[in-house]
Amino acid sequence: MTSTNATEASPSGRQFLPSLSHDGDPSPNQFLLPLTAAVNEADHLQIGGCDAVELVSRFGSPLYILDELTLRAACRQYRDAFQRFYPGASQVLYASKAWNCLAVCAIVASEGLGIDICSGGELYTALQAGVRADRIYFHGNNKSFNELQLAVEAGCTIVVDNWLELETLAGLDSEQPVRIMLRFTPGIDCHTHDYIRTGRLDSKFGFDPDQLTEVFSFISQRSTLNCVGLHAHIGSQIFELQPHQDLAAVMVQWLQKAAGYGLSVTELDVGGGLGIRYNESDDPPRIDAWVKVVAEAIATACQTQGVPLPRLLCEPGRSLIGSACITAYTVGTRKEIPGIRTYVAVDGGMSDNPRPITYQSICQAVVANRLSATDQETVTIAGKHCESGDILIKDIALPKIYSGDILAVMATGAYNYSMASNYNRLPRPAAILVHEGEANLILQRETYADLIRQDRLPERLGALFNGDSSRQS
Ligand code: LLP
Repeated sequence: MTSTNATEASPSGRQFLPSLSHDGDPSPNQFLLPLTAAVNEADHLQIGGCDAVELVSRFGSPLYILDELTLRAACRQYRDAFQRFYPGASQVLYASKAWNCLAVCAIVASEGLGIDICSGGELYTALQAGVRADRIYFHGNNKSFNELQLAVEAGCTIVVDNWLELETLAGLDSEQPVRIMLRFTPGIDCHTHDYIRTGRLDSKFGFDPDQLTEVFSFISQRSTLNCVGLHAHIGSQIFELQPHQDLAAVMVQWLQKAAGYGLSVTELDVGGGLGIRYNESDDPPRIDAWVKVVAEAIATACQTQGVPLPRLLCEPGRSLIGSACITAYTVGTRKEIPGIRTYVAVDGGMSDNPRPITYQSICQAVVANRLSATDQETVTIAGKHCESGDILIKDIALPKIYSGDILAVMATGAYNYSMASNYNRLPRPAAILVHEGEANLILQRETYADLIRQDRLPERLGALFNGDSSRQS
């Protein structure tokens, strides 16, 4: 089937198709739709050469549709930009909390990225996907003893967050010194939602800078610990470049202080945080522009402070995978309240995309089975959960949609599947990886049987099901 990704003047879903005409590689985080998005002869949205509407009839909805090319393009842009702009060694890690599953871990690892994990479950998945343990970095403010042991045994680097963890690791009976980095709060603020702001001093994560010299001194007396670097992460969905520039100077300063304690600290991990476009007014910097600023700021700070160039790490999540995915829903009911609002309900909602209800985030959608339609009305896209706040998009201009239409919410790759729940006992959706016309199932849709897989019914309650209704009153 032939397709086009040309845009047109009249407003329709086509306006969101990426126009890839500008110079250089497109930066996926600047587009609402995956880079392969196009419209086909049936006027359907096509991703990775696959018709989104057909995918829904084949795999059901809601459906996460993940475009492999876009994810790989983002990985490459990060990786190549570090090689271009940073004169030393570098390693990009994928913050897998954005979306951790076997296929995603395998794709990013095949692009040469390492993986940031923050739980035993993410560790297990990354290892099962074949990720090299020496490229796995373990974060978290309250790792359990068991999680630490698993990660150390596997050979991961532990990003130590606090004293308890440091003392636990120092006391571990491990064959080799444990490879650690230290996370600290750099005291840098940025503009983003309060829940995802982590760089200021009032944060649950990391050592307070006041404690760092004591930490350095502690480590310098422990042969069981091999402290290779420092880590900071200032927040998420950030469009400004200045905070990361400021962070560089602060981190290099601490690198120098650590050296004063005899520690051979040679790695700096500046965290993630680059934002993506969720709606038309968002204007995030390109991935390579972010890397350039970070790389140059670190290199300059090292030069000014007379510190050898560290191996530079960063750990983006959202900007790697966010724009690579759409969620396709089937439209159900319409409720028109004259003079007030029209609600259009879809077959998912806050359980597969908890971002709007959690962060009041705004997203955009297109009608996937009539991409060129230009008629417009303002509707509110509601989820199907028993909660008034389960609204995916408030007051969006869309062509008139009715039961059976397919709605595609854009830029849902980051923190949607990973934060999905079974609220109201909705089975979690399937995810499909699309590439050059091929569609592979990477996450199977949960079944009702899956929902009760972990349920246990004590024997004495079993009688309730044996026709003895008198016991139910
Ligand atoms: N490194 C650390 C230590 C982090 O905590 C995070 C995100 C990242 C890297 C990746 O940040 P990114 O490049 O994705 O901005 N659920 C929220 C986002 C929570 C972010 C948690 N940490 C949301 O949906 O907006």
